[in-house]
Amino acid sequence: MQKILILTGPNLNLLGTREPEIYGTITLQDIEKMCVEYAVKNNQEIDFRQSNHEGFLIDWIQEALKGFDGLVINAAAYTHTSIAIHDALKMLDIPIIEVHISDPETREEFRHHSFITPLAKSVIKGHGAKGYVEALELLHKIV
Ligand code: DQA
Repeated sequence: MQKILILTGPNLNLLGTREPEIYGTITLQDIEKMCVEYAVKNNQEIDFRQSNHEGFLIDWIQEALKGFDGLVINAAAYTHTSIAIHDALKMLDIPIIEVHISDPETREEFRHHSFITPLAKSVIKGHGAKGYVEALELLHKIV
């Protein structure tokens, strides 16, 4: 049984109503449900968490140092700003999959740089909510 931690960052708790023209109308609860459905069929156990706070995300990344086989992370805006999240991820020796619902590279220039990409095994972006399930599929293959 693979244990996967899925972390989602600021403002993604408001998916469904937040900028639906960019992120669609699916809610974070719907995404969690999709992930659980995939996981139960594929011998994965997932722990799905969201926070608007950088420090919580860092504490949870540190938790992944023990007992997790893979990490899926959409750090949202912290992707483009957080050296602290980069440093925390650097300590992990499990595969990290970076996910974005939109494709930040096709948006404003300040979204073009990611502090997470250099540490990620793979980046899934612009695939909408199903990017999270694709990340689980990848981990299923590589872990
Ligand atoms: C995002 C893209 C980021 O640039 C943005 O700040 C987000 C969401 C995405 O999933 O497309 O909050 O990570």
